[in-house]
Amino acid sequence: MTAPTTNTLRYDPSWRERLAQGQLPAISARKLQHYYGTGELRKQVLYDNNLEIFPGEIIIMTGPSGSGKTTLLTLIGTLRRVQEGELVVLDRPLHQVSNADLLKLRREIGFIFQAHNLFDSLSATQNVRMALELAEPGGSRRDQTQRSKEMLEKVGLGQRTGHKPKQLSGGQKQRVAIARGLVHKPRLVLADEPTAALDELSGRTVVDLFRKMAKEENVTIIIVTHDNRILDVADRIVNLVDGSIRSDVLVQEAAIVSQMLVKCDLFKHLTPRSLAEMADRLQHEPFETGAEVIREGGVGDKFYLIRQGEVAVLRGSEREQIATLGEGDFFGEMALLTGHPRNASVVTLKDTVLYSLSQEHFQQAISEQASFETEIRNSLFDRQ
Ligand code: CMP
Repeated sequence: MTAPTTNTLRYDPSWRERLAQGQLPAISARKLQHYYGTGELRKQVLYDNNLEIFPGEIIIMTGPSGSGKTTLLTLIGTLRRVQEGELVVLDRPLHQVSNADLLKLRREIGFIFQAHNLFDSLSATQNVRMALELAEPGGSRRDQTQRSKEMLEKVGLGQRTGHKPKQLSGGQKQRVAIARGLVHKPRLVLADEPTAALDELSGRTVVDLFRKMAKEENVTIIIVTHDNRILDVADRIVNLVDGSIRSDVLVQEAAIVSQMLVKCDLFKHLTPRSLAEMADRLQHEPFETGAEVIREGGVGDKFYLIRQGEVAVLRGSEREQIATLGEGDFFGEMALLTGHPRNASVVTLKDTVLYSLSQEHFQQAISEQASFETEIRNSLFDRQ
């Protein structure tokens, strides 16, 4: 599997397990491009996008309007034809799928779009049941009614099952649309601003339902949203800018790394924004036990943060061990700050995962505050 996107913070042991178990991604995009219009009016809206989403993951897709989010979502949802590149959704390669397969695939997807498109003459239950009738033609009507009511209960509308859209508030209608998108137990849910019209409590109910479906039934969920009240539900946030995936960050990992950076004395004066930028630029580098990450006397090119594992700092011809560093500790800053050669060697004592930052980005981060830089230089003397 080739490395997707420009993402950096992708270290997640569960991913490794998944790949080791041979688990296939629910969605995999390779060099996906898309254009609107023809001839001179042809305009490119997606550029070379790579993306991999595993079953049971909840992805939040963000980005300014016009960034290509909705196009990407509709391509994944098979509502548009793939023009260039590869897109595999639930094991079907969309760039070469037959129409019959496409229909089958659509039944495994739940669509929740902002425009509710509910039928005015039908009750909430009947509106939801329509989705079941389409997904499971010939199924028992009684069973389908029952399941539709249960789904309405799950989104907090148990008391409104017989109401028609006109008798429902905007938020209630939106919840009917959500129930309709989920009732046929899709393997993949595509939701465009599902919570925008909802108050805090109903929004939570919906988000909790998403989480439950993802964790208990391995449903993959992609949510396009600007609603930052629900960011915490995401396993990953994919940010699109100008038709390209700009960053693809595992939320928990980003939080862990930011906390590690905050605890480093070296960065204690950085603004949260600079820290976040720095976290975004870190590169994940795994090392086996006994690897020499830094050699004494060498030229400094990177700064390192220990994500997991342990390293020994060795100095002199005897390679005397002068320090042991572990999770959350950092090294390799001195040569970058002083321009001197590396003043010690650093060797891993266990299998270790490091995050590295290039010299350029390290300098950029710390030179943001001149006084802060002076302070760092002074504090370096403590470590000589
Ligand atoms: P640098 O000189 O760039 O490369 C070797 C690194 O080892 C050095 O930066 C420090 O990060 C680290 N190091 C050197 N001496 C010590 C020490 N006494 N305690 C902890 N780390 C050290």
